[in-house]
Amino acid sequence: MIHFNREYKNFYLETEHTSYVIGILPNGRLMHIYYGAKIPQEDMNCYLLDRERIISPKINGEGYFSDDVILQEYPTAGRGDFRKPAVVVETASGRWNSELEYCSYEILKGKPEMEGLPQLCGTTEECETLKLVLCDKAAGYEAILYYSVFADVDVIARHTEIKNVSQKAIRIQSVASACFDMPQRDFQMLTLEGGWAKERSVERYPLHHGISSVESRRGSSSHMLNPFAALVSAGANEELGEVYGFSFVYSGDFRICTELGQGNDVRVIVGLNPETFSWKLEPQERFVSPEALLVYSAQGLGGMSRCYHDACRKYLGRYNATCKKRPIVVNCWEAMYFDLSEQKLIDFMKDCKGLGIDTFVMDDGWFGNRNDETTSLGDWQVNLDKFPNGLETVIAACHENGMQFGIWLEPEMISPESRLYKTHPDWCIHDENRDAIKSRHQLVLDMARTDVVEYIYNTVAALLTQYDISYVKWDMNRNITDNGAEWLTPECQKEHSHRYILGVYRLMERLTKDFPNVFFEGCSGGGGRFDFGILYYMPQIWTSDCSDAIERLKIQYGTSMVYPPAAMVGHVSVCPNHQTGRNVPFQTRGDVAQMCNFGYELHIGLLSEEERAMVLEQTTYHKQIEPLILQGDFYRLLNPFEGNMCAWQLVSKDKRKSVVTFVNKLAGPNDNPVYLRLQGLSSKEQYCVEPLGVVLSGDTLMHAGIPFLLQQGDFVSRVFHLVQVGCEEEESDERYM
Ligand code: DGJ
Repeated sequence: MIHFNREYKNFYLETEHTSYVIGILPNGRLMHIYYGAKIPQEDMNCYLLDRERIISPKINGEGYFSDDVILQEYPTAGRGDFRKPAVVVETASGRWNSELEYCSYEILKGKPEMEGLPQLCGTTEECETLKLVLCDKAAGYEAILYYSVFADVDVIARHTEIKNVSQKAIRIQSVASACFDMPQRDFQMLTLEGGWAKERSVERYPLHHGISSVESRRGSSSHMLNPFAALVSAGANEELGEVYGFSFVYSGDFRICTELGQGNDVRVIVGLNPETFSWKLEPQERFVSPEALLVYSAQGLGGMSRCYHDACRKYLGRYNATCKKRPIVVNCWEAMYFDLSEQKLIDFMKDCKGLGIDTFVMDDGWFGNRNDETTSLGDWQVNLDKFPNGLETVIAACHENGMQFGIWLEPEMISPESRLYKTHPDWCIHDENRDAIKSRHQLVLDMARTDVVEYIYNTVAALLTQYDISYVKWDMNRNITDNGAEWLTPECQKEHSHRYILGVYRLMERLTKDFPNVFFEGCSGGGGRFDFGILYYMPQIWTSDCSDAIERLKIQYGTSMVYPPAAMVGHVSVCPNHQTGRNVPFQTRGDVAQMCNFGYELHIGLLSEEERAMVLEQTTYHKQIEPLILQGDFYRLLNPFEGNMCAWQLVSKDKRKSVVTFVNKLAGPNDNPVYLRLQGLSSKEQYCVEPLGVVLSGDTLMHAGIPFLLQQGDFVSRVFHLVQVGCEEEESDERYM
């Protein structure tokens, strides 16, 4: 997978379908030579060339190579490369000019652990890691670059370690987890933008000279811009064309920027956001950056997404261990909001009996004096006015009605109106010279402090030990202001936002390890922290606070660009929908949510008999297709951002089964038939397509499509179920067969 040719001094990194080649100039500058479709390992030093440049500074003042334009692996500042640097280190004298020279390499079996950070993990059989040591002797620091490649997924995981090898303290002003230079072809940039209740819309725009960036300064990865960007060749679509994906395994402030340079060279830098970051290193200390995941796909956006999905499911931390089975949930938030009581919940649970729901989740409002948003975060003790018997009685009722019990928590928060705040007013993030900024009436606990993390760990652990809780929904409902802390020295204030995230990761690590039987779901005002950092600890995330099925088409479609359906949660909620006021048929609400880990967000007792019957049908069906959701390949067929229709498809890895979901948003008169072209099937095999009752070959279904007529009415969905001829006996689903 990784090879160094001593004669040519070229490093070759290979995955199943991609190659990445690095070269070294005679003066020790590490050069980027190639990343893309797989090529043979040959002498590529002829690619290390440059011309005479009139105004550009020259490396060592001679020859043709100018840092101003060449493709570099890890560029620095102040020595002739005027583009964005990968790293800026300020020495004790305050100078930040820097030049990194290649020193040594190591090829390691497996992947070294990045302590305290989420990351892809692989055994010595599954992956190899290239470690490149670069050094700036004058500044007194080393940059150690790590590249891990995996045998069966076309992903390259990169991170950087900065080590102070001088006698004095230095300060990292910015550090890229990955920097990537290449010549511009016809690349456009594709990103995922949004806001609360409308997360991860796909946006594609031309690169322009200068810098384009996606970033967060909110203390979380954010609803607004996901820590992901792709360079997409102009003609690329879901199936064809070249795509380079860059994703950051991190849940806090980040920046991914692209720079189109004077020579039409493109630079991508992925890392912590330098605006809210710096890090002091004492002599011999090291800083380890979070991880960036690079994917190259020649099969368009769909190919890129499936690589990320596989990497996530197979190698992201404990994800795989926990992703075998997911509970179908009923959550009481939209049914009751804060208005909870023991009797109400018991009645609610009785209504759920026999409907195939695995877990009841008690959402916000069960603790302290919490009757609205204004109080009690931090007081994680049961409200005895609402639950006079503690939680025992409701948990027993839950079990009697055939469900496990789950609970909502917001561990990182504190209400000024709380016992915790009265005892520890200094535990929130605040600026001692200003009034603390509240958002949703709450403040943020300083998770950078070990005593705070310890306290929250003990409180949550006590709850999980005392009660039979099988599921935790971990919410985080505001962004972070007033960054910094009195307990940090002046020159370390900008360490705070990263230290916060490290504290959150420490807490998540301990709780998920110590309570392996508790299923953890991430959430942040819906999908405000939907990233690989959280997914390392928690196998699924509440995708959005918008539960309207028609809005969810876009949200789930956009989210699937990077994250697998197995990471998403989709619930059927009531109509008119609470976020949009829209009425969508119950069937469509179910069909859209079925793409994700499934559940309900409504009062089951208020459903009609017909709807109750559909709930049982839906939960039964979901259990049948669950293996496809958890392990299948995902294909986007029709783009809801571009038209009135949306369709997606899941295909089992052995290509024997597939489920296709189609939604027509607004009905039109006199519509033509639809011929929905599928993807990912075995071309020569025959498939039985239900409920049409036809048998067609994979080739025909992929080229001519599934033929069907549109039904009347707005927001109508169709689901098609495909089974390869010869594999029917494995099927038993009555509704879809
Ligand atoms: C935001 C979440 O996304 C909702 O599902 C719900 O849990 C509320 N917070 C509760 O405050």
